[in-house]
Amino acid sequence: MPGIVIVGAQWGDEGKGKVTDLLAEQADAVVRFQGGNNAGHTIVRDGVQWKLHLMPSGILHPGKLCVIGNGVVIDPRVLADELEALKARRVDVSALRISANAHLIMPYHLLLDSAGEAKLGKLQIGTTQRGIGPCYADKAARLGIRVQDLLDEKILKKKIVAAMEPKRLSLRPYERNPALDLRTMTEEYLTYGHRLERHIADTARLLWELLDAGSLVLFEGAQGAMLDIDHGTYPFVTSSNPVAGAACVGAGVGPKAIAEVWGVAKAYTTRVGAGPFPSELHDALGEALRHRGGEFGTTTGRPRRVGWLDLVALRYAARLNTLSALAITKLDVLCGLDSIALCTGYRGAEEAEFSEFPYHQTVLHHASPELTELPGWQEDIGECRSLADLPPAARDYLDFIANAVGVPVALVGVGPARDQVIWTGEPRDSLLLAGAQHAAP
Ligand code: GDP
Ligand code: IMO
Ligand code: MG
Repeated sequence: MPGIVIVGAQWGDEGKGKVTDLLAEQADAVVRFQGGNNAGHTIVRDGVQWKLHLMPSGILHPGKLCVIGNGVVIDPRVLADELEALKARRVDVSALRISANAHLIMPYHLLLDSAGEAKLGKLQIGTTQRGIGPCYADKAARLGIRVQDLLDEKILKKKIVAAMEPKRLSLRPYERNPALDLRTMTEEYLTYGHRLERHIADTARLLWELLDAGSLVLFEGAQGAMLDIDHGTYPFVTSSNPVAGAACVGAGVGPKAIAEVWGVAKAYTTRVGAGPFPSELHDALGEALRHRGGEFGTTTGRPRRVGWLDLVALRYAARLNTLSALAITKLDVLCGLDSIALCTGYRGAEEAEFSEFPYHQTVLHHASPELTELPGWQEDIGECRSLADLPPAARDYLDFIANAVGVPVALVGVGPARDQVIWTGEPRDSLLLAGAQHAAP
């Protein structure tokens, strides 16, 4: 039963969309298992850019089963619009399946998300304001409304009443908002139900059948390990678990279904929103990398904060996810620098040194980076397609990362386009091998 999980190993936007689209070529299905339309996954094919928010990044492969798992929170308006937009661009979306157990983002979740941020003032998290946190909160409080509820008007109405009642006080400022009118909301959501109905399914069962038959299933994470609600830089995190362990829960398969875990990381680090970022660059170089790397949010357009590659955090992510391979993206963005720094440790108050990711929030907030400098390279690497094509300094940089993290680099990104990658060899074979081994009777 070979399942391969692809996760973000930093603070999101590592290039998961591109890597998933590439690996999807060899897979039979692609599953999103957590997060919602806070995600923005970009794929560039033949010079055309695709920005996906809820849709699994296998959707551009005609007929490939794409699943939105039970662990995802779905804004049905966004999903229905995304489907229409893809259809308008002649993408075959017939193989999309949506878990009947996935939770729905409701209009009041959106209002609560922005109200929550406004209330926090200076302490705000910088959420994407897509209602993600309030939706997961309702799920945990057992007040959530699920995809299957869209198919029954009576149940839908009852659940909306039950979910809105406890929020009466917080929603008071929005009392006159038509989006909160029970009848309007029910009617609107029933319409989404009609639009999505043909895609709604028992997705866990679909995946069991595929895995039993030895098919290759990709589990595509959103966000990244450092935004994980349990293991990330809490409270500056998202409200789900982007780590690989959550793939099982969010798709409905057991841990034995997972054969490999790929971690995607940029050759440097970015983060959107507030929260600690020890290796952040606050100078002109940070600004230059932001522009060279196009570091502006796919979902909100916000400028991303930029810094050196944080190997302390990356090692931590490797452990949290039991990474078997690394995909290092955007190596091309580092061209033209005389030297490149990597964060190999943190220094805290009173000169305390940390080589492992500190568990205490206060330490992290005051951590400054211990930097190791490596020589840079001047050549443009956008046309390189093998390790041998890369300048020696770029190869040394990749080796340094692999050694520090203890995980081999399987794939290197040298530009946004689909073909701008370097396969380092073995792990691609091992990907195929995993499929072949498990497919054997
Ligand atoms: P995701 O959320 O992890 O899927 O990543 P995003 O799509 O939000 O952000 C990654 C950005 O980097 C996108 O604009 C990609 O097109 C782009 N990208 C991905 N890989 C590479 C690469 O190797 N080089 C460059 N220059 N851009 C890349
Ligand atoms: P992809 O899948 C980068 C960040 C937000 C904010 C925090 C909480 O494209 O990598 P939320 O709206 O989730 O409650 O916001 O998480 N965040 C992301 N940052 N990439 C993402 O997704 C993100 N999804 C959420 O900026 O700091
Ligand atoms: Mg993104």
